[in-house]
Amino acid sequence: MTIKIAGTGSYLPESVITNFDLSKVMDTSDEWISSRTGIKERRIAKEETTAFMAAKAAQRALADAGMDASELDLIIVGTITGDHITPSTACEVQAAIGAKNAVAFDINAACSGFMFSLHTAYVYLQSGIYKNALVLGVETLSKIMDWNDRSTCVLFGDGAGAAVVKTSEQGLFVFDQGSDGEKGLVLTCKNRPTNNILVQNDAALDYVSMDGQEVYKFAVSTVPASIQKVLALAGMTAEEVSYFALHQANVRILQSVAKRLHVPEDKFPISLDHTGNISAASVPILLDEMNKKGMLKRGDKIVMSGFGGGLTWGTAVLEW
Ligand code: ACO
Repeated sequence: MTIKIAGTGSYLPESVITNFDLSKVMDTSDEWISSRTGIKERRIAKEETTAFMAAKAAQRALADAGMDASELDLIIVGTITGDHITPSTACEVQAAIGAKNAVAFDINAACSGFMFSLHTAYVYLQSGIYKNALVLGVETLSKIMDWNDRSTCVLFGDGAGAAVVKTSEQGLFVFDQGSDGEKGLVLTCKNRPTNNILVQNDAALDYVSMDGQEVYKFAVSTVPASIQKVLALAGMTAEEVSYFALHQANVRILQSVAKRLHVPEDKFPISLDHTGNISAASVPILLDEMNKKGMLKRGDKIVMSGFGGGLTWGTAVLEW
């Protein structure tokens, strides 16, 4: 028993913020942002909440799969920017779409969140516990950005992506994932500090901070190794892969991974030019865009990979 992706969906907030828009409110330029990252514009949530965007992406993925929400056994959401500490975004999605037969929970693995969620769904489905799953990545990163820190806020955006995953007798799904907690301080955002009858704490809210160069080094070494590992496990070569759908952090990371794998860059589709980096939502939004453009044919082999905060990484090769 393995799994197939039966449908995809995504949602991007309505407000488009270009690099030129940012250059009017902070000391930056389109030239600085696009030459270093490939990002030209991103979407920023105004009215949309994390749960709203996730539910929209979920409904679109269900429509694409031709499935009713009541058929879902499992909903897993990768996110670090839920609207509540509790309930989970997955439970909010369950209520919004009427998936009354599903069990729902979130996974916190930052930019690997969708891949960790997909791998978890695979384990449930492959073992026969559940048949139909909805896997999402969603982020409202704009609310955890320091908008006075030009070195981080220009890189990120908001949005949601979803995939309906079903058990299948035929196909291929092989994954690799890992964590390196010792390097966690490379990319951080603190939650509320301890503040109770024993400890008085009036620390200001924290925002995302990162060591961009350390993240870059981590990504360009770990991601090619993880891809090579799943290809070896699947008994495949990189030439047999139609597309490498990678987390959309930075075009230079994608170019470097392509070079290290000796794969042409045009096998690495890009959405970051119009989305920026949306952490857990990057991979499923890219996958949905590829699907809707007709780039994916049944039988194609696709590699997907997410990497980031934790530090964490997750890669899968699957048959479309
Ligand atoms: N506009 C203009 N100038 C800026 C901006 C900005 N938005 N941000 C920083 N600068 C300035 C800095 O102040 C600095 O100026 P100085 O030399 O006078 O001190 C100069 O630009 C260079 O700053 P660096 O931080 O050294 O910039 P770098 O060349 O390393 O590029 C970047 C930053 C693009 C983030 C790079 O480190 C990178 O590619 N990192 C890869 C990882 C990544 O993309 N992370 C994003 C999220 S993590 C993830 O998703 C896994």
